[in-house]
Amino acid sequence: MRIGVLTGGGDCPGLNAVIRAVARRSWQRGDEVVGVREGWRGMVEQLFQPLGPVEISGILPRGGTIIGTTRTNPYKVDGGIDGVKRSFEQLDALVAIGGEDTLGVAARAHAELGAPVVGVPKTIDNDLSGTDYTFGFDTAVHICTEAIDRLHTTAESHNRVMVVEVMGRHTGWIAVMSGIAGGADAILIPERPVELDAVCDEIRRRHGRGKNFSIVVVSEGCDLPGAGDKGEVDQFGHRLLAKRGVGERLGEEIESRTGFETRVTVLGHIQRGGTPTARDRILATRFGLKASDLVAEGAFGQMAALHGDDIVSVPLQEATAALKTVPDDWYDVAKTFFG
Ligand code: F6P
Repeated sequence: MRIGVLTGGGDCPGLNAVIRAVARRSWQRGDEVVGVREGWRGMVEQLFQPLGPVEISGILPRGGTIIGTTRTNPYKVDGGIDGVKRSFEQLDALVAIGGEDTLGVAARAHAELGAPVVGVPKTIDNDLSGTDYTFGFDTAVHICTEAIDRLHTTAESHNRVMVVEVMGRHTGWIAVMSGIAGGADAILIPERPVELDAVCDEIRRRHGRGKNFSIVVVSEGCDLPGAGDKGEVDQFGHRLLAKRGVGERLGEEIESRTGFETRVTVLGHIQRGGTPTARDRILATRFGLKASDLVAEGAFGQMAALHGDDIVSVPLQEATAALKTVPDDWYDVAKTFFG
């Protein structure tokens, strides 16, 4: 069998661990594994790269992806699907590693073309349905938590409010989890309307009882008048966020409304770069093995998923039908410590 592997969408710590696991398990069966470069673009343009022991060696702890990634949507590219069909003529199966967009294309290609594809759930945002967690998320939360810890000491020294903008354009998973772990005094997420009055009241209440500093964590995808976006969308229809995003606007509002000196830190792509945590390496490895097994079973149209401690499979259609948002009970855990 000739098995292609692609990584699509934003990169994510753990991608290389999945590639390694798919390759190692598939080789044990005598299969050949090739990298499809730069996500779905590689399928449109037949950008194949050999993946052998030399290429795979030493990649487990490496961030990024050795086969590159793009946000190409073949359904939006002229001749894109014809290109994808040509690529499938040269492959017996494809392992697509991605989030809602990359796997959405995989689900559609399987449904409409009968493409022999299986999925692996990836995103630091953790907003994919059908799996308890995606790999990359733990690393991002770890990085944000460390940043919040560091911001605490400088906030305290200067009696400042620190606004920390974290990733999450549709959901607040990173904000809520790192906010809980870091002891945030307020957390704003896209699932909930931004209530500036309430946030400022909480900060005032906190400062009124002798705490002269606060940490406010905000997801980049929160809607705040004046923060705006670039007025452009990508090939999947997602709005491109402005460089001066919601964190900056929030910081201005908090400072002018409360009078407390405020500073803003935008963590940005720091959250996506670098080596994965042990937990993400293990999860990515287990997902990769499962994907290879699904290929061997001919279980196409399925995605590897984590349910509790078990790696299972779920239909790609189900996993990509709706985003997984932060449930109220998780937000309530964080809220207990606000103000
Ligand atoms: O989808 C993952 C993600 O990291 C989002 O949280 C973020 O909005 C987006 O990617 C950033 O994309 P880019 O790297 O294209 O700026």
